[in-house]
Amino acid sequence: MTYASPRAAVLAGIGSWTPPGVLTNAQLASRLDTSDEWIRSRTGIESRHRVTAGTSTSDLAVEAGRRALKSAGSDAVDAVVLATSTPDELCPATAPSVASRLGLGRVAAFDVSAVCAGFVYGLGTAAGLIAAGVAERVLLIGAEAFTSLVDPDDRTTAAIFGDGAGAVVLRAGRPDEPGAITSLVLGSDGGGRELLHVPAGGARLRVPAEGESRFLQLRGREIFRHAVRHMGASCREAVARAGWELSDVDRLVAHQANARITAALGGALGIPLERAASNIARVGNTAAASVPLLLDEDNADGSLTPGQRVLITAFGGGLAWGAATLVWPSLDSVGGPDPSGGPHVHDITDITAKES
Ligand code: COA
Repeated sequence: MTYASPRAAVLAGIGSWTPPGVLTNAQLASRLDTSDEWIRSRTGIESRHRVTAGTSTSDLAVEAGRRALKSAGSDAVDAVVLATSTPDELCPATAPSVASRLGLGRVAAFDVSAVCAGFVYGLGTAAGLIAAGVAERVLLIGAEAFTSLVDPDDRTTAAIFGDGAGAVVLRAGRPDEPGAITSLVLGSDGGGRELLHVPAGGARLRVPAEGESRFLQLRGREIFRHAVRHMGASCREAVARAGWELSDVDRLVAHQANARITAALGGALGIPLERAASNIARVGNTAAASVPLLLDEDNADGSLTPGQRVLITAFGGGLAWGAATLVWPSLDSVGGPDPSGGPHVHDITDITAKES
C-alpha cells in the first residue's frame, strides 16, 4: 500500500518519554546466562529503560503526548492515534484513555497494532485521516510497556527489549512544506507470524496450556534477515516515490532492533553509518516507540536539523514494515527524552523479578 495526496500531513511537534528505571547489561548478567560483552557485541545495547509495577503504556503515552503537544504549541487535535502492542488492557483500546488524561476532549482515539512497525503504520493512519479531511491535526504516539510481554528468564528477549514512548503532532498542510510526509510505503507478510509472537492470551489460546507461553517468542536470526530485506526494499521504494536518490538521504532513522541490523541496512542502501541515527545503546528495542523516540532525541541534540532529508523505516512482528520520507522541519524540543537529567537507576527489584 502506498499513500499520496495533495493534502499532506506535516510534522508540527515532537516529544518523548522513557521511564526512569534503567536495567543494565551487568544487572541482567547477574541473574541470567549472558554477559555484557555478548549483548553489546551482538546487539549494541548497553542498557534499557523499564517500567516498574504500576506503570503502564498509557502512563508513558501521556508523558510523550504532553511533550509533543507542547512542542507543537497547541493542544488542539482532532484525533489521537496510539501505536502499541502493549495496550493497558486487551479491551478497550488505550488511546481514548490517553486522550482523556491529556484533556483533549471527545476527539477520535484508537490504537494501531503493528508491533515494531507501529509508528510507520500510525503515520499512514494519521496521514490518511488528514488527507481525507477527517482531521486537521492528529496526535500520533508510539508507546510500549513492551517488557510486559518479555519473559524475564529469556536471555534473548530480556536483553533486547525496553519501554518508552515517542509522539508527534501532524497537521494538514502542503506536500512541499518542510515536515510534510512526502512518501509512505507499508507492507506485511502474515506467513511470518510465528517468527515473533505471543502465543497465548489472545482469542485463539485464551489461557496458556502446558508448553504454550504468554511471553514473546522470537526467532531472532530469521527476523534479522527479514528486517534487513524488507526495510531495504521499502526504503528504496519510499525514496523513489519522493523523487530522491538514496545518496540524497541526510539521515536514516531506522527502527532500533539491533545495531547490526541498522549497519546491514545502511550497507545495503549505501548510506554511510554516520548518517544513521542510533540510540539503541541506551534504550534497546522499544517497538512502536522506537522511531519517534529516536527522532525526538536526534532533534533535541541537533543531529537532526531543518532542511535535512530524512528516511524513516521500521520492521517488526506480523510481519509488518514500512518507510517514509520527509524534509526535517524546525521543531521545538521539549526537554528531550528524560527531563529529569538523564538515565538514573531506580530500585529495579520489581523490574528483574519474574511475575507470576
Ligand atoms: N546472551 C548470551 N547468549 C545468547 C543471548 C544472550 N543474551 N541471546 C541468545 N544467545 C545465544 C543463543 O541461545 C544461541 O546459542 P546456541 O548457539 O547455543 O543455540 C547463540 O547465542 C546464537 O544465537 P543467534 O540467535 O543465532 O544469535 P544472533 O547473532 O542472531 O543474535 C539476536 C540474536 C536476537 C540478538 C539477533 O538475531 C537479533 O537481533 N534479531 C532481531 C531482533 C528482533 O527480533 N527484534 C524485534 C523485531 S525487529
